[in-house]
Amino acid sequence: VRHPGGAYPIYLGSGLLGGIGRLSQELDLGRQVALVTTPPVGDEYAASVVESLVEAGFEVDVCTVPDGEAYKTLDTVRLVYDCLIDAGLDRSGVVVALGGGVVGDMAGLAAATYLRGVRFVQVPTSLLAMVDSSVGGKVAVDHPRGKNLIGAFKQPEAVIIDTRTLSTLPAEEFASGLAEVVKTGLIGDPDLFEQIEAHGPAPLPWIIERAVRVKAAVVEEDPYERRRRAVLNLGHTFGHALELLSHYQLSHGEGVSIGLVAAARLSVRLGFCDPELPGRIEGLLARPGATGVALPIECGDHLPERGPSEARPAPTATAIWEAMASDKKRQGKKLRFILMRAVGDVFVTDAVEQEDVLAVLRTLGAT
Ligand SMILES: NC(=O)c1ccc[n+]([C@@H]2O[C@H](COP(=O)([O-])OP(=O)(O)OC[C@H]3O[C@@H](n4cnc5c(N)ncnc54)[C@H](O)[C@@H]3O)[C@@H](O)[C@H]2O)c1
Ligand SMILES: [Zn+2]
Repeated sequence: VRHPGGAYPIYLGSGLLGGIGRLSQELDLGRQVALVTTPPVGDEYAASVVESLVEAGFEVDVCTVPDGEAYKTLDTVRLVYDCLIDAGLDRSGVVVALGGGVVGDMAGLAAATYLRGVRFVQVPTSLLAMVDSSVGGKVAVDHPRGKNLIGAFKQPEAVIIDTRTLSTLPAEEFASGLAEVVKTGLIGDPDLFEQIEAHGPAPLPWIIERAVRVKAAVVEEDPYERRRRAVLNLGHTFGHALELLSHYQLSHGEGVSIGLVAAARLSVRLGFCDPELPGRIEGLLARPGATGVALPIECGDHLPERGPSEARPAPTATAIWEAMASDKKRQGKKLRFILMRAVGDVFVTDAVEQEDVLAVLRTLGAT
């Protein structure tokens, strides 16, 4: 992946963690590593990563941080700083993030700021982190007033994707990542979309490679998110509002899933795309496929894996609109929509009327 300060490689394969020491030597990463991870991932994989690095001559300190989005805060980054200082990591040291997007974002922010910046390697272990958050150089933590408000651009030295780690990823997390993969196909790769449509998320390494290539191409074109990179937010304006209104009962991937359907239906309503496209997207997302988990495609969809609760009450269309508008306002941005002309052909526009959005939301079960 090329970026204004150079370029970095992405390695993708099964079992790469066992060879991470040799790879780090080849990348000339010095001799000292701080490995940042979180218990669900570290318990499974930290030992083999440490062993491989130590065998290759690295000195390694493991920094374990609490798990989950609720801990993606400056307080947790402070714990990482403590760990780096205790380890005596100097300017030649490297921070390695082993985990999902939350660990990658926090470790990256720590690496961007500790000693005014030390080198950083991403080892993503969730599907979402592999195809989305580990590539592109954006790192951030949340603020009580909003997600990802404190952050930086920090390009990694390398991204190392070991697909074998997905064997322990919970099915709902896999499904969430799949929503981003489908998004990626819609943005820039019709073959990827059609492959999942025909065969589900298989073969997995191929699916991941294709999704990573689309993300890499978009961020290469617009490394600082000034223009084209906005297309990566396809489905996200709707998705974020739904996540917010559900008080985060709805996961990010679930919000994106409904958001993709909303974006497709809005595109049809405004005359930009084939009326059959929303149905194709819905069919693909709602099918359990290889994950055993179906993604929701309507606002009030029942989520079976959440136990025997009643179906979630659907929010009103106006409440969703207001949540979308205030979310953007808080970020100092205009309410923009990413619309589709076809699979692999999307564009950004702010010329969308509120009444069209409300009408589409009502077709999705909003009241
Ligand atoms: N920087 C970016 O460009 C960018 C892009 C998209 C998303 N993000 C961020 O990424 C985060 C979401 O990432 P995520 O979905 O990976 O969430 P996450 O990091 O919370 O991971 C989800 C859960 O799965 C666990 N897990 C991860 N890999 C595992 C494995 N192999 N085996 C067992 N358990 C595993 C994690 O510990 C966690 O409990 C959000 O904070 C979002 O803002 C950043
Ligand atoms: Zn997303």
